[in-house]
Amino acid sequence: MAVGLIGGTGFAVPADASPLPTETPFGPVVLRKVAAWPDVLFVDRHDAAGARLLPHEVNYRANLWALREHGVRAVLAVYAVGGIAPALQVGDLVLPRQIIDYTWGREHTFATGACPRYIDFRDPFHPAARQAVLRAATAVNVAAHDGGVYGATQGPRLETAAEIDRLDRDGCTVVGMTAMPEAALARELDLPMAGICLVVNAAAGRGPPGPTAAGVGAVVARAQAPLDRLLRAGVAALATGSA
Ligand code: HPA
Repeated sequence: MAVGLIGGTGFAVPADASPLPTETPFGPVVLRKVAAWPDVLFVDRHDAAGARLLPHEVNYRANLWALREHGVRAVLAVYAVGGIAPALQVGDLVLPRQIIDYTWGREHTFATGACPRYIDFRDPFHPAARQAVLRAATAVNVAAHDGGVYGATQGPRLETAAEIDRLDRDGCTVVGMTAMPEAALARELDLPMAGICLVVNAAAGRGPPGPTAAGVGAVVARAQAPLDRLLRAGVAALATGSA
């Protein structure tokens, strides 16, 4: 079974990947395939024919639609995030269980009045997929925090310290800009999806100012080996349908 791997800031799609340009009702998307990852179709959510899309500009609907059109039946998404919970260090990996959506104005559903759909979204990351990836992490000896709440903010600016205090009071443990509407759209397409967050900075007011491009690059480079191991094991688990 094919698995979709959605990368972005935390995980770059391999440079030798061959492009698979795809038209969708929501616009074009370039999926990518790599021989070394036979079960996987990659998409870099920020990529638009070489240009970079900001989090609020990402064509989330086209990305997920294209993956499903090409036979993907489960999705693993990687997110760079700021850490809010004191237990989280820069460089940590987190598999959040929940999301609070603070984004606005994004194309956030496939449903229409003519084709309504009220999805069950009480568990925004698919529980079995998340468990499968957690088991894979243990199997390949990669430390990952089990659980937490992803606060999805609009960006592209970073949050104020007071906004992070509010997110903290709401129960958010990490903050990022791209898990929504991605997770909801995956659910609308019945694609089980798990998310892996890489903490690239302390959230506003919780540590040194960040993230800087150089700082994020260094964190991503350091995390690359364990993250790669986790992604390979996670994809294998999802591909065999153990989710
Ligand atoms: N806030 C929002 N999104 C982010 C952050 C952050 O601190 N770090 C990485 N993505």
